[in-house]
Amino acid sequence: MKKLIRNGTIVTATDTYQADVLIENGKISTIGQLLSEEGAEVVDANGCYVFPGGIDPHTHLEMPFGGTITVDDFETGTIAAAFGGTTTVIDFCLTNKGEPLKNAIQVWHDKSKDKAVIDYGFHLMIGEVNDAVLEELPSVIDDEGITSFKVFMAYKNVLQADDETLFRTLVAAKELGGLVMVHAENGDVIDFLTKKALAEGNTDPIYHALTRPPEIEGEATGRAAQLTGLAGSQLYVVHVSCADAVERIAEARNKGFDVWGETCPQYLVLDQTALEKPDFEGAKYVWSPPLRDKSHQEVLWNALKNGQLQTLGSDQCSFNFKVQKELGRGDFTKIPNGGPIIEDRVSILFSEGVKKGRIDLNQFVDIMSTRIAKLFGLFPQKGTIAVGSDADIVIFDPNVERTISAETHHMAVDYSAFEGMKVTGEPVSVLSRGEFVIRDKQFVGAPGKGQFLKRAKYGSTTSDKSQTLKI
Ligand code: URP
Ligand code: ZN
Ligand code: ZN
Ligand code: ZN
Repeated sequence: MKKLIRNGTIVTATDTYQADVLIENGKISTIGQLLSEEGAEVVDANGCYVFPGGIDPHTHLEMPFGGTITVDDFETGTIAAAFGGTTTVIDFCLTNKGEPLKNAIQVWHDKSKDKAVIDYGFHLMIGEVNDAVLEELPSVIDDEGITSFKVFMAYKNVLQADDETLFRTLVAAKELGGLVMVHAENGDVIDFLTKKALAEGNTDPIYHALTRPPEIEGEATGRAAQLTGLAGSQLYVVHVSCADAVERIAEARNKGFDVWGETCPQYLVLDQTALEKPDFEGAKYVWSPPLRDKSHQEVLWNALKNGQLQTLGSDQCSFNFKVQKELGRGDFTKIPNGGPIIEDRVSILFSEGVKKGRIDLNQFVDIMSTRIAKLFGLFPQKGTIAVGSDADIVIFDPNVERTISAETHHMAVDYSAFEGMKVTGEPVSVLSRGEFVIRDKQFVGAPGKGQFLKRAKYGSTTSDKSQTLKI
């Protein structure tokens, strides 16, 4: 059935205006004033913003990591995402050295297929580059529609790749039309500093942060950016946490290198002191890169405002405080890294960003949706309110005040990283391809309704995969 969203204020990455949106066959068919209600279910959006569904470019759902598996899977994770105003996630598919990439991709399809309630895509981890990998990559891009590749510069002896692997991935991505993503921290130096800390008897969560100082992230970011320039390739730095990394990205962009940066809500609103909470509670706040001194927050906000950083990912990677984070009591290196954010990403950006005057409303849409769609080959199918785009739409009440809490969130994990934080604004209803997933704050979707998205090559659009897109 047709749906007509009336009386709302449409917000895109460029415009804010009053208009009605007509949805037919899962797509936006007409945008205009006083559209006819005939044959349509009318949805009243009075007093609300109507913006494109958020796209979360960084999630780890049901991912094995640190000897355990993230709690939120493609069902609970995407339900929580939808409650938070996100209608697409791109999850990281881990690979194993010596095994065909296709096997890893199949594992990720199996764990997501009948579970996701919103659309999703995959990035593919590259842990080694050899003849077999190079032979498979063209089909990963063209047939699987996986057009972004993740290289870890940290997690020594687990996920870390060496510089040769990074460089060869950059070269291959340039040739094939892929975007290379990096976790930029110097894993070798971290390895040395963590061993030293443990040898000195320093085992508490705070040492996770103290053994991964900002210089280590800045160095790796600069190295990856320089290698990108040398390869003439393209790079997306995930989870930027500090001024040091922002500076390296800005330098690279000033040189004309095709380098992009993502930050995450946790780095914008939490700081390193959280790791010092008593009774091992600091373990809840163990991310890599770690939370930083508060002074870095203003640098990150400014970078989002002035375009040195372009996107916000959640880095959703949830482990229960009980049992899972507990693994690291007495040895901070065994605390599973990561936290639950998928549900709060959009609201925190709106509340702390728009409401507090740090970014404007159109920047907000760009940072949490449009720019991400453009970078990851989903635009204009996703990421905007436009005729012909998928009707992935959030009806958002910008004035409601609420408190974030594990008591009320929809993630399966047993704590909130933002417990007690007051935010303004909340999604009221959320549509995925024209169907309600959230209606009047109630979940009305179904597992398995989310579709896997084959994405366009870097720099291309979904409407014409060969057409070069200016981003
Ligand atoms: O601490 C983090 N970020 N955990 C998730 C894995 C990663 O490095 O992105
Ligand atoms: Zn309303
Ligand atoms: Zn990472
Ligand atoms: Zn991550």
